[in-house]
Amino acid sequence: MTSVGIDDISIYSPGFFYSLEDLARRHGVDPAKYLYGIGQEQMAVPSPDEDIVTMAANAVAPVLTDDVRERISTVIFATESGVDQSKSAGMFVHGVLGLNPNCRVVEFKQACYSATAGLQFACDLVRHRPGEKVLVIAADIARYERNSEGECTQGAGAVAMVIARNPSLVEIHPQSGLFSLDVMDFWRPNHRDAAYVDGKLSIDVYLRSLRESYADFCRKDGMPLAAIEKLCFHQPFTKMSKKAFAALREAAGADAEHLDETSYAESQVYGRQIGNTYAASLYIALTSLLDNCAEDLGGRNIGLFSYGSGSVGEFFAATVRKGYRRGLRTRAHRALLAGRREIDYSTYVAWFYNSAKSAEDRVCPEETAGRYRLAAIEAQRRVYAAARNLELNVAAWR
Ligand code: CAA
Repeated sequence: MTSVGIDDISIYSPGFFYSLEDLARRHGVDPAKYLYGIGQEQMAVPSPDEDIVTMAANAVAPVLTDDVRERISTVIFATESGVDQSKSAGMFVHGVLGLNPNCRVVEFKQACYSATAGLQFACDLVRHRPGEKVLVIAADIARYERNSEGECTQGAGAVAMVIARNPSLVEIHPQSGLFSLDVMDFWRPNHRDAAYVDGKLSIDVYLRSLRESYADFCRKDGMPLAAIEKLCFHQPFTKMSKKAFAALREAAGADAEHLDETSYAESQVYGRQIGNTYAASLYIALTSLLDNCAEDLGGRNIGLFSYGSGSVGEFFAATVRKGYRRGLRTRAHRALLAGRREIDYSTYVAWFYNSAKSAEDRVCPEETAGRYRLAAIEAQRRVYAAARNLELNVAAWR
């Protein structure tokens, strides 16, 4: 069968972060709880002229070679921070980046799981029509109530993946284990900016979903765990990977004896600095693993677990392609994170909470460190622009 998977992967996160050590002090909590108990150091904070569309456009721009532009048949945008109830966020990205008009564009939603549905559907499209490429985008702003227990896990970011045959980076195997359960562990009604969450329940359901998905994966003769050397889990905060690993090891017994905490350690590097990115989180963790693992992973297998509250879980396997390092964007990703600016508490509150509430028409002051920005909302139409006062793309939205 043709090998299909991730041919290119690029991540983006805002150029500003807020320190969890400072947040702990504001909450009157021992900073060690956030730094080690939760496992987060910083949260990425979008400026008021950033949203899922601008973050996505920033992630997608580097992967747009002439060949990709020409061969994209489908754009799948996975998010739970949608900017419109009707129009797909991917359509805005299509406009901002001037993508090929002869393609389909659609938005997927199922909490943090939807990017995995996007990836699997994209792989199947390419298996059927090997000449096509599919762009899978995931972008989210993870926002909880102010002063809630979830606040320390907040973050923002995007990932763009080009799915193609004979991929340069990672082959995705078609067999996966699935588990869906209707449960209220985390949800966000249409009128709300911040999610409701039953934190402890969400952890329990996540772990049950992992066990059930893995059992389904084994029943379907998925790749034996004995052949898997690295793991990547949906990572709302990095401590969750530790909990997931413990649950998987217990479920797999002797089949997991060769695995230890080093099998997922590098997948945590970026997430610890960015925070939760919901749909993008698993794929930022995968990028983190590929970028930061000192060993050459070429030819080796990874087990991945995707979870989206509400809830859907999927366990699947991937093989890293030989020579994959030539196709990574490690330097750009590290530069992106190293170049971020720390913001103080009042800026964090103003940007993360207050700017989210406004549905009014407005002009957005230029703050972003990215290439694309939300310039204004005019007559309830979102107007995107190139940053640094480059030309406005207003005409495209009229
Ligand atoms: N030093 C070191 N560690 C400390 C500490 C200290 N001084 N004080 C506490 N800790 C440890 C605790 O022992 C605990 O560790 P374990 O989990 O290993 O036992 C950890 O810090 C967290 O402490 P609490 O359990 O008391 O934390 P909490 O109740 O305040 O909140 C939370 C934790 C429920 C995860 C909360 O952050 C939350 O609601 N987050 C959002 C929901 C979420 O991310 N759920 C994850 C599964 S759902 C999912 O994955 C989908 C998604 O993306 C949302």
